[in-house]
Amino acid sequence: VASTPEAPVAELPTINVQPVSKEVTILYGSQTGNAQGLAENVGKTLRGQEFEVTVASMSDFKPNNLKKLHNLLIIVSTHGEGDPPDNALSFHEFLHGRRAPKLDDLRFSVLSLGDSSYEFFCQTGKEFDQRLEELGGKRLNERVDCDLDFDEPAAEWLEGVISGLKEAQGGSAAASVETPQAAVESEYSRTNPFKAEVLENLNLNGRGSNKETRHLELSLEGSGLTYEPGDSLGIYPENDPALVDLLLQELKWDPDEIVKVNKQGDVRSLKEALTSQFEITILTKPLLQQAADLTANPKLKELLSAGNEDKVKEYINGRDLLDLVRDYGPWSVSAQEFVSILRKMPARLYSIASSLTANPDEVHLTIGAVRYNTHGRDRDGVCSILCSERLQAGDTLPVYIQHNQNFKLPQNPDTPIIMVGPGTGIAPFRAFMQEREELGVEGKSWMFFGDQHFVTDFLYQTEWQKWLKDGILTKMDVAFSRDTDEKVYVQNRMQEQSKELFEWLQQGAAVYICGDEKHMAHDVHNTLIEIIEHEGGMSREKAEEYLATMQQEKRYQRDVY
Ligand code: 2AM
Repeated sequence: VASTPEAPVAELPTINVQPVSKEVTILYGSQTGNAQGLAENVGKTLRGQEFEVTVASMSDFKPNNLKKLHNLLIIVSTHGEGDPPDNALSFHEFLHGRRAPKLDDLRFSVLSLGDSSYEFFCQTGKEFDQRLEELGGKRLNERVDCDLDFDEPAAEWLEGVISGLKEAQGGSAAASVETPQAAVESEYSRTNPFKAEVLENLNLNGRGSNKETRHLELSLEGSGLTYEPGDSLGIYPENDPALVDLLLQELKWDPDEIVKVNKQGDVRSLKEALTSQFEITILTKPLLQQAADLTANPKLKELLSAGNEDKVKEYINGRDLLDLVRDYGPWSVSAQEFVSILRKMPARLYSIASSLTANPDEVHLTIGAVRYNTHGRDRDGVCSILCSERLQAGDTLPVYIQHNQNFKLPQNPDTPIIMVGPGTGIAPFRAFMQEREELGVEGKSWMFFGDQHFVTDFLYQTEWQKWLKDGILTKMDVAFSRDTDEKVYVQNRMQEQSKELFEWLQQGAAVYICGDEKHMAHDVHNTLIEIIEHEGGMSREKAEEYLATMQQEKRYQRDVY
């Protein structure tokens, strides 16, 4: 704006010396709870540095307030084929749409969580970062993309953010930051797991089933750990000892050699390190790139050369470290050098299948055993096969509770609930029913369950029948896909009862989906839209809006994997 003679001259320079805001808004998009846990801890650290901090889920943030923000931190994970978490969807869409405002006064930074074994690694974080820049925002600190082991990079990012915030205020740029830890009430956490004793370990499937589903009961006694229905349990598993032995033989390494297993310098024998500290069953492109520098075999560099993306993807898919070692040797490096390129063993998250109120000091899980054959070798899911083949009552497992705010029973006990959970997706709904029974909740409930065969695969059959008989459960529909010539799935059962289902929705019911993401949850989602469209007499667009509003109101929640 050009100054006019009337304008008080003294006011002009104040634009430059105006104190920079101490307000920091942290928005998270979180599916499993990791991004949320980080956001809360970053918030705590910044409050300790005298910043005025607001931490919120993206789904609770009003986009119209975006223009009022000065400092924005985004912490967001990526799922499936590069998709945002459910509670980031609406904000992500708003920001990428036409109504997104200019953000010239905004300073921001993005921390993205992901898994480098997926093609669209940290995609959602990258999109937020790029979009905020396009809208005029300035970076407080460069985006950091974290792999599964996110503690260290997250702490480094936060250090950079604090420097950025302080620099902007003209203060000291020095900042020392502790590693943000997951928020827990107990002394045990993701970084300090509790050794839980196995009380019970059963196969839920009957003889002759194609499936094996383990029911695990663990003791939390003495841990101080607590959880709510909808939360998950993290387990740090051990690799198959036979696979570890094969690797050691192939590399001609001494199992007793001592190696460092982290930056802090903790040590283990090589055998222990490969058993419990490192991931050896999944290959990622970054791993291949580092391995290429450790082998005299030029073929690995060739595979990784430009234009070969599809070949790399093809190679990684269904192969493990033993394949890599066999295919691209000789490896003329020390064991220490080799293990330092491996990813840290990630925890596996399982939806908890019990209510703590109903089972004090216990946690129950429903785990599907994963076995398959690729590239001429039988392969096992690390954690599920540990539970199926090697874990016995009396053994212990390192575990922690992962709180999940995105899968919660309604606050109002009278709210009807509709649960869709085929296969192991049944787990959190067993927890829901146990909790409702224990608390004497009166709201209506409706369960859709599916699996292959009625006789062998009706998980927790007698429990469900009892809940139904006692009126704890109002309705149950089952779809056994391989008992009939034509397959029937849970969504077919929903379709058959579309009128009543829509009535429940109109009465304010909350819908929960748990289980397979790629096929089941996707198909069930579309079925819900069709039901709303048809029964509500709405256009497809209006029906989608109806479901999106339900999601916004936390009446449509998913725990999918
Ligand atoms: P199927 O294995 O016979 O195809 C639990 O695994 C149940 O989910 C099984 O009955 C399985 O059927 C079924 N299922 C497989 N794909 C599905 C999909 N896209 N939607 C719903 N259920 C599905």
